[in-house]
Amino acid sequence: MISDKNKKRVSKRVGQIEISATKEMPIVAAKVGGCVSLGQGIPSFATPKHITEAVCHALQGDAAIGKYSLQTGMPELRREIARTLKREQGIDRDPESEILVTVGGMEALVCAILTLVERGDEVLMPSPTYASHVEQVLLAEGVPVMVPLRTEDWGLDLEALDRAVTPRTRLVVICNPSNPTGAVFSDADMQALGELALRHNLIIISDETYDSIVFDIPRPRSLAADPRFREHVISVASFSKKYALTGWRVGWLSASADWMEQIMKVHDASAICAPTPAQVAALAALQGPSECAEAMRLELHKRRDLCCRRLDDLADFFSYVKPQGAFYVMPRYLFSNAPSKDVALQILHEARVITIPGCTFGAAGEGHLRFSFGGDEAEINEAFDRIEKWLKP
Ligand SMILES: Cc1ncc(COP(=O)(O)O)c(C=O)c1O
Repeated sequence: MISDKNKKRVSKRVGQIEISATKEMPIVAAKVGGCVSLGQGIPSFATPKHITEAVCHALQGDAAIGKYSLQTGMPELRREIARTLKREQGIDRDPESEILVTVGGMEALVCAILTLVERGDEVLMPSPTYASHVEQVLLAEGVPVMVPLRTEDWGLDLEALDRAVTPRTRLVVICNPSNPTGAVFSDADMQALGELALRHNLIIISDETYDSIVFDIPRPRSLAADPRFREHVISVASFSKKYALTGWRVGWLSASADWMEQIMKVHDASAICAPTPAQVAALAALQGPSECAEAMRLELHKRRDLCCRRLDDLADFFSYVKPQGAFYVMPRYLFSNAPSKDVALQILHEARVITIPGCTFGAAGEGHLRFSFGGDEAEINEAFDRIEKWLKP
């Protein structure tokens, strides 16, 4: 706890932001002890073998691996990212001037938001949404404007988004597939969002951290693939979830060269470059067999189905929208009127299960809990067994 004396010295920017409950709940759980987790979004898989082998090989034979890379990232990695964007999404980005390798998607988001948000600028985002987007906008002294999603399917409410635009609106930050709801916004709705951005001259930061993790439906089309929106979209991507590389801290950002020139200044001032060994891992991920990422996606699909079956068995206690992507589900709890933070803490202390209170993701998340099904089937089953026993003693 910070002393009153030091509190006065903390900048207003930092004083007003918070560590998200996603990271706080495991800290509380570590004190409680013996908990299982439906909390933080960490795929349980080990780093794929061909990736660790490539890094080990480079560590033994390549002196450059222990040094800074170019600030924009290893040229070979940027070229591979550009090829991947072209192959998978039909997006043309110049690897020299339009792709930046970052310290996870998180650094990419911070760099983009600090570059684009002026004090007092309004930033539209759906509610509920990824908590760190809100903190990042506050850090830039912007004003997050939360626009509730449709509750029946967690879809975009385009009319409400349009109504929320004011002369101070500069930016939309959107995450598709969505953390925390697991919803995948339709291509038609995303197109309409792109058109809204054009109409009002807004930039869209498109957080595509989970873009390849979808179930039963095609992967969403990035807005940057449409030439009309290309200049208006800054895309953020991550190796963390698709390749189970959360601890390696590597992601990327793609944007037109104009934006990139400015974003680079923030990247230079904050990180210099992404860790070189992690970039080697990322390159191996992109060049290696695609089957490993596909096998993990299929496994997550099974876990999604397991989670839904367990929730169906608790239909008197939870209602939910079936997730189509990412690895989250955000059920409404029907057994209590207490705030979600209290409910999540009660479940943590009494059932020893980590869940994330919905309020963390914006007011529209209140009354809900977020469950991650990144853990393996044994962990998911154990967590639901405990919750079930707690609900039906
Ligand atoms: C929506 C979203 N964006 C960005 C991130 C950050 O990912 P990374 O590990 O690439 O920094 C996360 C991590 O959970 C996320 O859920």
